[in-house]
Amino acid sequence: MTILHIDSSITGEASISRQVSQAIVAALSAADPHATVVRRDLAAAPLPHLTLDQFADRSVLDEFLAAETIVIGAPMYNFTLPTQLKAWLDRVMIAGETFRYTADGPEGLAGGKRVIVALARGGFYGADAPARAFEHLETYLRTAFGFIGIAPEFVVADGIATGSEAREAALGQALAQADASALQMAA
Ligand SMILES: Cc1cc2nc3c(=O)[nH]c(=O)nc-3n(C[C@H](O)[C@H](O)[C@H](O)COP(=O)(O)O)c2cc1C
Repeated sequence: MTILHIDSSITGEASISRQVSQAIVAALSAADPHATVVRRDLAAAPLPHLTLDQFADRSVLDEFLAAETIVIGAPMYNFTLPTQLKAWLDRVMIAGETFRYTADGPEGLAGGKRVIVALARGGFYGADAPARAFEHLETYLRTAFGFIGIAPEFVVADGIATGSEAREAALGQALAQADASALQMAA
């Protein structure tokens, strides 16, 4: 199995989404000793904004297509995904490659891959949270990956900016869920 491990948080070792995405990759690798991990750190090596010229460069798309499992660390910035992660998606969501338009509407072409997203959000955005309507990270990623034929799984750490106790609790819960979610695949 090839695992593509992507991170997009700018906060380095303090990052919750990085710690959780790393735990997911570690659990997947432990479950499959033959797994190969390809690393793409979008904060350390940001992709430039998309330009017309860059459609000629297939390297990011081919890296995505070659992976069976994609693990993504995704912090919430200003209610949505970091621009670093959007620049990556702009190179992956390509008509004729990962989706196509048909007479019956759009069709995803990237089905069969597993995408696991480690979400970290400063506030609370669960189904009953007052701020739910401001949530454009999980909903966006669900839509974008759904469009190309993938139902992403989410490991969520919420309330990270609401105090150190809440932060530690959310991290602990997400790390436990990371393990469980990776193991589901091995089963
Ligand atoms: C630039 C920036 C923008 C942020 N915007 C939001 C936001 O709109 N809503 C929110 O709940 N938290 C927001 N946060 C808090 C982060 O989502 C939270 O700290 C999360 O843990 C970041 O992920 P990380 O720990 O992996 O870096 C923001 C943080 C930063 C650095």
